[in-house]
Amino acid sequence: MAAYQTLIVETPEAAPGVTLIRLNRPEALNALNTALLAELGQALAAAQADDAIGCIVITGSAKAFAAGADIKEMSDKSYAQMFKDDFFAAGARAIEGTRKPIIAAVSGYALGGGCELAMMCDFILAADTAKFGQPEINLGVAPGIGGTQRLTRLVGKSKAMDMILTGRMMGAEEAERAGLVSRIFPADTLVDEALAVAARIAAQSPLATAMNKELVNAAYETTLSTGVALERRLFHSLFAFDDQKEGMAAFVEKRKPAFKGS
Ligand code: CAA
Repeated sequence: MAAYQTLIVETPEAAPGVTLIRLNRPEALNALNTALLAELGQALAAAQADDAIGCIVITGSAKAFAAGADIKEMSDKSYAQMFKDDFFAAGARAIEGTRKPIIAAVSGYALGGGCELAMMCDFILAADTAKFGQPEINLGVAPGIGGTQRLTRLVGKSKAMDMILTGRMMGAEEAERAGLVSRIFPADTLVDEALAVAARIAAQSPLATAMNKELVNAAYETTLSTGVALERRLFHSLFAFDDQKEGMAAFVEKRKPAFKGS
């Protein structure tokens, strides 16, 4: 496995088919800098290319998932530099372009770019210690990796405006009530629970999983009738795969399916 400076990447024995990516810049509460986002892109591409991997978990430390984009790296940049580098667009594309499911397992701070990274994942599992926020307003800027768009879609306009205009943080329970987070676990079990969820996903047909991910994401981009039509077509197309025959035969024969990804 490649050596990373800003990440710890593992395939834990306890979670077959899962890549665990830990953000690892403890000196900066895992703030996202150019190096970290480039390495995250590499780690995701490696997981995407590996047929043995069916799901990815991104986590941070107990104190911070990620406390935002790296303010020290950004502070002196000019508009021309930000524009020329298309700051963080490549990092965002690497996450958005991953076809395998990505779970964010969030403990502690998920602020600014950290909250945006969590929202770019397919769903968020939170520790009871998680704190979400888009505090960019306090720095005289705005979210820059999708926060104004994704938070609004996830929690609605009123709460998104409240969070983004005040810069306040939201705890795990409020985040779950608002629909930002799918489940909450005690902080000391979060990563194990996330790995168990990921292993369950990795045991499914990778083809059906990829199509299901595409379909849920399409709900953000299309009208209801177009989305439902797309769903019907992809549902029909799944009958072209051996995995559909195996899944349904296993049900009838009262045994566990053994999906092959074909
Ligand atoms: N960028 C760079 N360094 C950061 C950082 C960030 N986003 N967040 C924390 N750090 C660094 C601190 O500077 C500090 O380093 P030093 O020890 O060298 O001073 C170290 O991490 C520990 O942080 P604190 O001492 O501040 O820890 P704390 O427990 O007192 O506070 C905190 C924790 C409330 C999260 C606080 O660190 C904080 O407010 N961080 C900034 C949060 C923020 O504004 N995020 C948005 C960034 S902008 C953005 O993300 C734009 C975008 O959408 C693209």
